[in-house]
Amino acid sequence: CLADNILVTGGAGFIGSTLVRDLIEKGNTVTVVDDLSMGRLSNLPESDQLTFYQKSIIDRKFMDDLLIKHQFDYIYLLAAVASVADTIERPEVTHQINQDANLWIMETLRRNQLRPKKVIFTSSAAVYGDDPDQPKSEHSRIVPLSPYAIDKFASERFVIDYGQLYGLNTAATRFFNVYGPRQNPSSPYSGVLSLITQRLQDGQLFTLFGDGTQSRDFVYVGDVVSALQLIADTPDSNGQVYNVATGHSVSLIETIRIFEKISGDKLKIEFAEQRLGDIKRSEADISKLQSLGFEPKFDLETGLRRYWEFNQNH
Ligand code: UD1
Repeated sequence: CLADNILVTGGAGFIGSTLVRDLIEKGNTVTVVDDLSMGRLSNLPESDQLTFYQKSIIDRKFMDDLLIKHQFDYIYLLAAVASVADTIERPEVTHQINQDANLWIMETLRRNQLRPKKVIFTSSAAVYGDDPDQPKSEHSRIVPLSPYAIDKFASERFVIDYGQLYGLNTAATRFFNVYGPRQNPSSPYSGVLSLITQRLQDGQLFTLFGDGTQSRDFVYVGDVVSALQLIADTPDSNGQVYNVATGHSVSLIETIRIFEKISGDKLKIEFAEQRLGDIKRSEADISKLQSLGFEPKFDLETGLRRYWEFNQNH
């Protein structure tokens, strides 16, 4: 998709900015809408191919004008309140961002007969909840246990059904545990690998909730960005939802061991009660994404090494 005109909502965030950097390197023109609630301006590259708006996606007038003016070729919907805990604290406010704003964007496309080549909504493995069946395929039971998961699942359906009902090309992704450079460790609910990285660097105590045997399908952000573009560029993905992960889960203890080997430092660990609602194991079946030609390029050790080296240099 050379030299396309692309919108990334949430483009200053961890995953969004990695996508934006890659799209710009490939010669595209990119517009980012981000309110910088979690994202950072410093995540974005200096480039005359990039236009940045510090705006919330709930600003309907702004989004209308933007969508009509730019007639984007591709739209990646990544803006969200990504903290599950925050959505439990403020369900109504976060619902406006995590669901209503995305519905409004689809409405604007429909009412103005705008026809991007693809609209991609980014959802979460959170939609599978705590159902113990593993690995999770896209047909697994949906058990949303938080406002976050409810809004993610509903937005998935809205975006995909708009495609079917009104002739828009759409697809959705369910991210598993994404990690890598620029992940923001500022909240206790930030991704565990960003917290571990920080603790390895500052020598402070890391609190491990549970016994460390819980496992996750950790996927490197570079693979996530490749998957997003593959889905965007494949006509067969229309109306489909895809797990984005590696297909292998690794326990937290094993992950820490790998990280210690890479950093050459020992993580100081204090053990605490397992988190309420914590999932024992989360692993994805990625065969649907593989059927589009996807293969993860970064196993956990390779990804963690990249992540560590990035942090040493920044
Ligand atoms: C992830 C998602 C969440 C989603 C959930 C369900 C992230 C950041 N979160 O949560 O949005 O709802 O999947 O699919 O991707 N841990 C510690 N110490 C810490 C922090 C975490 O021991 O300081 C443990 C947690 O208890 C958990 C594991 O590390 O067992 C992973 O935690 P986390 O990175 O927050 O991700 P999930 O809980 O899998």
